[in-house]
Amino acid sequence: MMSPAAEPLASLPPPTGPLLTGRGLFKRYGRQHALAGVDITVKAGEALGIVGPHGAGKTTLLHVLAAIQPPDSGEVALQGHRIDRLGAAERGKVRRRSFGFVFARGKLVDELTTEENVALPLLVSGVGRCRALAEARTRLERLDLNGLENRRPRELSAGQALRVTLARAFVHGPRIVFADEPADALDVRTGEETVSTLLRAAREDESAVIITTRDRDLVARTGTTMEIREGLITGGVMAA
Ligand SMILES: Nc1ncnc2c1ncn2[C@@H]1O[C@H](COP(=O)(O)OP(=O)(O)OP(=O)(O)O)[C@@H](O)[C@H]1O
Ligand SMILES: [Mg+2]
Repeated sequence: MMSPAAEPLASLPPPTGPLLTGRGLFKRYGRQHALAGVDITVKAGEALGIVGPHGAGKTTLLHVLAAIQPPDSGEVALQGHRIDRLGAAERGKVRRRSFGFVFARGKLVDELTTEENVALPLLVSGVGRCRALAEARTRLERLDLNGLENRRPRELSAGQALRVTLARAFVHGPRIVFADEPADALDVRTGEETVSTLLRAAREDESAVIITTRDRDLVARTGTTMEIREGLITGGVMAA
């Protein structure tokens, strides 16, 4: 089924070449190099894992690739279209249309119900409330969260809250989902389940996913893995 927000993408060429590329990415905070020359390619539907210790540059890399922050130098392109130098409004449009996000501590909106939280990416893109909530409920069901539609975030367990953020990340049919340490706040088993659910959701939706983690066991579950240290990709890419 075509997701309600997928239509605007019809104007982009079909994803034959790389989906997302970062070339020569540098980013500094004062004298601290967060990215020191990163090259990265993500193919359509690829599950990419990036492993590295605290301060390695994982979050900065995701933010630069997702057009949340511009790099100091280098280029980011989505299906061949530069997105790193777009104005804030245009970058926002690209993010809302083509990207989904999962962060460690959920970041659900406390005042909204579960289904409203999941529907948010559709609502901010102008999809009508009824249609957005119906799609949100379908997503919740697919992640075994039926019955929780009308709960508030504080009434969910940590694992449930994270699965709700997964439902939200995919609800608008994004081409790529960015997951920054999705398992970080969870115990090992719940973390593994969350990553498995994330990978399954991406496969079912034919969406690419980039997962960062400090955990080598977790990263081994992704299709392609990379290692980042001091702002540089150090480990070669290896296909699983
Ligand atoms: N807003 C900021 N101001 C100053 N320095 C920053 C800022 N954000 C990140 N840094 C620095 O840039 C480097 C990379 O940080 P980043 O958050 O990308 O690492 P990370 O791999 O995500 O770390 P963690 O595993 O702790 O989340 C670190 O040295 C960090 O201290
Ligand atoms: Mg981080």
